[in-house]
Amino acid sequence: MPTNSSSPYLPFGENKNAAWYGKDIVSVKQFKREDLEYIFGVAHEMRGMVERVGTFDLLKGKILANLFYEPSTRTSSSFTAAMERLGGSVIPINEVKYSSVTKGETLTDTVRTLECYTDVIALRHPETGSAAIAAKVMKKPLINAGDGAGEHPTQALLDAFTIKAELEHFDGLTVTMLGDLKYGRTVHSLARLLSLFDVKLNYVSPDILKMPKEVVDEVGAKGIVQSEFSSLEKILPETDVLYVTRVQKERFENADDYEKVKGVYVINPDIMKSAKQKMIVMHPLPRVTEISMDFDDDPRAAYFRQMEYGLYVRMALLAMVLGKA
Ligand code: NCD
Repeated sequence: MPTNSSSPYLPFGENKNAAWYGKDIVSVKQFKREDLEYIFGVAHEMRGMVERVGTFDLLKGKILANLFYEPSTRTSSSFTAAMERLGGSVIPINEVKYSSVTKGETLTDTVRTLECYTDVIALRHPETGSAAIAAKVMKKPLINAGDGAGEHPTQALLDAFTIKAELEHFDGLTVTMLGDLKYGRTVHSLARLLSLFDVKLNYVSPDILKMPKEVVDEVGAKGIVQSEFSSLEKILPETDVLYVTRVQKERFENADDYEKVKGVYVINPDIMKSAKQKMIVMHPLPRVTEISMDFDDDPRAAYFRQMEYGLYVRMALLAMVLGKA
């Protein structure tokens, strides 16, 4: 007997007619407001199951290929944990030398190879657009685990899940994104995803690391008010979600430019005195120096909880694309 027979979200048996069965997850542009409600519902069930039984057999016999051409701790291990908590297994490939990948050719051959042996592929790759290229040649679902400075849709979903879990709603919130908004793929995805709601977005960055025009234009077209700043001071008191990012050293073309902007913003208990009491500080992690460790015990520091929510959201996504949710 399945352990999850009482749940409307986690049926027994594979449902090939389910809305997300066989789908790729490449960009947050795919999601509508009702999709988020559904994903969060499944993720909430996953959380309950993990707390109650730990591991269960929803994806027994299914195999995930974790194909990572860039370093990762949280994304790759949470995909692995998600698959294993659902009773499936994982082929981890993180020793690839991407220097031989030109024009995506080798990548497409690699994903075609891996889909012969697995049911779903999670791909992280240094080139923007690589996930879309890979998904196009594949028959099985591909999940974008970060494509260069492009997007990181599963992170944005877990970020949104975090906001919902911590602050209960989206509409009316002021979300301030801070740091490297140019190369930070997590903020590109999150700004797009939040544009489904009635939020106000503030972007705080050095001049050379501003949010790309493409993202600002897309989000603006949804009627979202966006404002740019170079300093946090003025807008911190009105902020409900402060989303801090790491300056993406590895994506700079010029090392001097990195030196000029590294460590430009540091969140610490002193600065946070002017912030609301009911607000949260998020970070996709890894952090370098942008949030001081002496802020970690503040109840508003949500980044470790955020990391845990990632497991439930990735369990939900795997179950959905494999027709089990
Ligand atoms: C982020 C990434 O890889 O884009 N990390 C993550 O997936 N949690 C952020 C970063 O590397 O700074």
